[in-house]
Amino acid sequence: MRIGLLTSGGDCQSLNAMMQSICKSIYRIDPECQIYGFIDGYQGLQHGEYNIYQCDDFFDLLYRGGTVLGTSRTSFKNIVKSKHVVDAMVNTYNDCHLDCLLALGGNGSQKTSNLLAQKGCNVIALPKTIDNDLYLTDMTFGFMSAFEATSKVMESIYTTAASHNRIFAVEVMGHKTGWLALYTGLACQANMILLPEIPYDKKVIFENIKNRDRYKPYIIVVAEGAISKEDSVLTKREFKEKRKYTQSAMKELRFELKKELNENLFTNTPGHIQRGGRPSSVDLLLVSRLGSYVGQMIQNQEFGMMLSIQNDQIVKVPLENVAGKLKFVNLDNPMIEEARNLGISFGDKE
Ligand code: F6P
Repeated sequence: MRIGLLTSGGDCQSLNAMMQSICKSIYRIDPECQIYGFIDGYQGLQHGEYNIYQCDDFFDLLYRGGTVLGTSRTSFKNIVKSKHVVDAMVNTYNDCHLDCLLALGGNGSQKTSNLLAQKGCNVIALPKTIDNDLYLTDMTFGFMSAFEATSKVMESIYTTAASHNRIFAVEVMGHKTGWLALYTGLACQANMILLPEIPYDKKVIFENIKNRDRYKPYIIVVAEGAISKEDSVLTKREFKEKRKYTQSAMKELRFELKKELNENLFTNTPGHIQRGGRPSSVDLLLVSRLGSYVGQMIQNQEFGMMLSIQNDQIVKVPLENVAGKLKFVNLDNPMIEEARNLGISFGDKE
């Protein structure tokens, strides 16, 4: 067999481990299988840039962060704008005589995977992203490692904040969704969590901070996509203009807290630390489980699917049902009530 393999979009800690798991399951079906590893994701497929491996070339990668194949962001808008790009990808697929293409990617990447499936390529997708925002899967691989990283940050921030009884905000990644902020904030029992899904009221934040226990630290976990109630009614363009100046919800809060209450908000942005380093154990378990089904799926010719985890079972979902949809934090997610039960505010009400 000839199997194409690529990693697309932002990297994460468990991409290599996922490839190891996939290659082990393929090896059981066909030990002679050739793996066409495309360089830098869909760009490699577009430009016909690849290296040919054996499955066992991937057998020593479990604890290595990043991706040995390299990755890139290929804007889906640009792909559909030019028919030439998709055609080039399909041509590479055909020229290599691939039996299947395995695409490890997040939201944007799965739109491309779906497009290629519609163009006749045999695609199996694997749900990668630290944002956990992929539709029809309870968890994406990468997320739990990022959560581990943010939790370590919170531990460090807490000890220094506690020494000085300071007000600290930590901005975590998550793109347009608040999964990473919700998990991080609940696990560290922050005083406040700000999510894109629950626009905050600045007055509520000020009141909370005014009434805080001044002999304790005050910790806010802010999702990078967090938004105030007043900003949530702006048009996309108006919001973009405003953010040019304010830069982020966290920076805006720092400025306004100083102005309104003369309080210092100490801020921290861990940034790409959240995506680097070795995978967490929970993530390793997830990639081992997901990858274990890939060999069978190829053998049974089950294509146009994404492997996902739902209610602790590994299931296959049609790519067309996943592509282009974001999984947001639902307001009835039990973790929101659990956080409120601990006195954690979402900045939306007293
Ligand atoms: O999608 C993963 C992610 O880390 C997001 O959380 C974040 O918004 C974005 O990628 C950062 O992208 P880049 O690494 O290209 O700056």
